[in-house]
Amino acid sequence: MIAFNGGYLHPSLQPDRALGSALGRAARRPGAWERPPLEGVTTLRSWFARQAGEGLTAANALITAGGQAALNTALHALVAPGAPLLVESPTYPGALAAARASGIRPIPVPTDDDGVRADLLEEAFAATNARAFYCQPLFHNPTGAVLAAERRRQIMEISHNAGAFIIEDDYARHLGHGGPVAAPLIADDPFGVVVHINSLTKPNSPSLRVAALIARGPVMERLRAIQVVTSFFVSRPL
Ligand SMILES: Cc1ncc(COP(=O)(O)O)c(C=O)c1O
Repeated sequence: MIAFNGGYLHPSLQPDRALGSALGRAARRPGAWERPPLEGVTTLRSWFARQAGEGLTAANALITAGGQAALNTALHALVAPGAPLLVESPTYPGALAAARASGIRPIPVPTDDDGVRADLLEEAFAATNARAFYCQPLFHNPTGAVLAAERRRQIMEISHNAGAFIIEDDYARHLGHGGPVAAPLIADDPFGVVVHINSLTKPNSPSLRVAALIARGPVMERLRAIQVVTSFFVSRPL
């Protein structure tokens, strides 16, 4: 049996040797075992910001211990306990579990082959007064759908009009098969509503617990404040 649900590389495809020598070098660097900046090492923050889109810089990025930690930080920062969170239906069970563990109420919004239905998203915002929408625009888990080009702008506009954030879980950006891949939503976000998650675990190893939260504007400060109380910072050698 080949399990497709995780999306991590088969062990035979993991770059174990490269990871091992990189980690060995990192661990021997001067200051490797000192505390890093709370937001993460600046060069790594810059790298993630560049991946996310033009005009984004290290100041827009917060390094987290994997995508799941990023998701938890975003949920804590953006959704109050008891409040609703719009999610695509179906969606990643780990996101539902994280929401429920924080007392957040996931509200399903139907999807089709082109991703979430924009008309139903608008209705769901109106019906629930939700202030956040968890979304996987690229290679959605579990459907594999890619959000249609014409819906990208629509869902950002709808979320903006609802006064809500979009939590963009870009977990599979590096898992394409060589064809053209749509830019992250945050790259084309004129409103500053997208909080973007990019994790390095899927194309490397589940044990490379490194991801980033990328956002524009004052929400960055809220994300940072939550991360400091929940996990302090990510191990510097990693
Ligand atoms: C859609 C999605 N988001 C986030 C994660 C979390 O991955 P990680 O914490 O390894 O970055 C997973 C893992 O399966 C996933 O499928």
